[in-house]
Amino acid sequence: MKIVIPGGSGHLGTILARSLVRDGHEVVILTRTAGVPQAGRAVVWDGRTIGPWTTELAGADVVINLAGRSVNCRYNARNRKEIASSRVDSTRVMGEAISRSVWPPRVWLQASTATIYAHRFDAANDENSGIIGGAEAGVPETWRFSIDVAKEWERALDDAETPLTRRVKLRSAIVMSPDRGGPFDALLGLVRRGLGGRAGDGRQFVSWIHYRDFVSAIRWIIERDELAGAVNVSAPDPLPNAEFMRELRMAWGIGFGLPSTQWMLEAGALVLGTETELILKSRRVTPARLLASGFTFEHPTWPAAARDLCARWRAIDRELRSERSEYDRPKLSRLPGHHSHRDHLGRTHAAP
Ligand SMILES: NC(=O)c1ccc[n+]([C@@H]2O[C@H](COP(=O)([O-])OP(=O)(O)OC[C@H]3O[C@@H](n4cnc5c(N)ncnc54)[C@H](OP(=O)(O)O)[C@@H]3O)[C@@H](O)[C@H]2O)c1
Repeated sequence: MKIVIPGGSGHLGTILARSLVRDGHEVVILTRTAGVPQAGRAVVWDGRTIGPWTTELAGADVVINLAGRSVNCRYNARNRKEIASSRVDSTRVMGEAISRSVWPPRVWLQASTATIYAHRFDAANDENSGIIGGAEAGVPETWRFSIDVAKEWERALDDAETPLTRRVKLRSAIVMSPDRGGPFDALLGLVRRGLGGRAGDGRQFVSWIHYRDFVSAIRWIIERDELAGAVNVSAPDPLPNAEFMRELRMAWGIGFGLPSTQWMLEAGALVLGTETELILKSRRVTPARLLASGFTFEHPTWPAAARDLCARWRAIDRELRSERSEYDRPKLSRLPGHHSHRDHLGRTHAAP
C-alpha cells in the first residue's frame, strides 16, 4: 500500500513509518523540514496548504495525518494559536485534497486525542458512553483549551466532504515507547532520579498504550472497513497516577520516588516550559470499539508493559553507550547497521 503521513517525522510517525516500511509498504512523510526520516520518503510541505498533498495523494491507499505543534509547551497566546491552527488547518487541507482527488484514499486516519474526554474518576470514558469534556466544574482554563482544540480538530474531519474515504478519529492515549525524548523517557527520567513518586494526590487516571499495540491498532483499523468515526487507541487498563508510578518504579527496580505536590508541579512546569494538565488531568479512557472488533493487546496491563519498556530502554542505552565508546576510538571500524536512529529533532529512536 501507499501510505501518506503528514507530520510523520515526529514521535508517532517515526514509530509507524519504520514498522510500515518493514511490512513492505510505500511510506511518504510530509514534513516542513528537509530532515531525513528513519523510514519512508520525505516530501517537504509548509504544514497548511495543499501543495504536495494532491500529488502525493495520487495512488495513495491510506492517509494518516499526525501534523500538530507539540502540546508540551506553555499555553500562551502564541502557542495556543499554533497548537490549534497546526491541527485544524492541516485537517481541513487534508479534506480538501482528498475531495479533489480523482482516486481518493480508501481510509483517512486523523490524529485526535484521549484528552477530548472529561476529567473524571467515577467511570471510564469509552466511545459509546464516554463524556466529552469542557463542562467540568472547577478545572483550570488550560484544560478547557485542550478540549476545545480537540473538538475543533474532530469537527474539521467531520466537515470534510470525502464520501469515498472512510474517516477515523484516533483518540489516542499517551503512546509509551523507549525512544529517547518521548513521554516514557521523560517519566523514566524522573524515576531514575528518585523523583518518580505520585503527582498531586495521585488519584488522576493515566491512560496509555504500548507503542507496539499502537502500531498494531493502526494496522487493524486500516484493515477493518467497519471501523469509522471515533476510536479510542488506548490500553484497556488505565490506572491512577500513584499506582502507575509505583509500577514504573518497580519495573525499573527502585523502591523510592519523591512525590510532587501540586504547587511543586506548577513551579516545575513553569521552569520547564510546559503545563501541569499533561500530568494532573484524569484521563480514564478505554478502547471499547477496538475490543468489540476483536483486537487483542500484546501489552494490556501496565506492570508488564512497564517491565518490557524498561528492558527496551536499557537495550537502547547499552547501544548508545557502545556507540559513544566507538566514537571515542575513531580508528576502530564501526559495526554496520547501527540500530538506533537520531531524527532531525535530535531524538533517538529504538530499533523496530
Ligand atoms: N504522542 C502521543 O502519545 C499522542 C497521544 C495522543 C495524541 N497525539 C497527537 O498525535 C499527533 C502526533 O503526535 P506525536 O507525538 O508524533 O507529535 P510530534 O512528535 O510533536 O510530531 C508532530 C509532527 O507535526 C509536525 N508539526 C509540528 N508543528 C507543526 C505546525 N506548526 N504545522 C504543521 N505541522 C507541524 C512536525 O513535523 P515537521 O516538523 O516534520 O513538519 C512534527 O514532527 C499530534 O497531533 C498529537 O497531538 C499524540
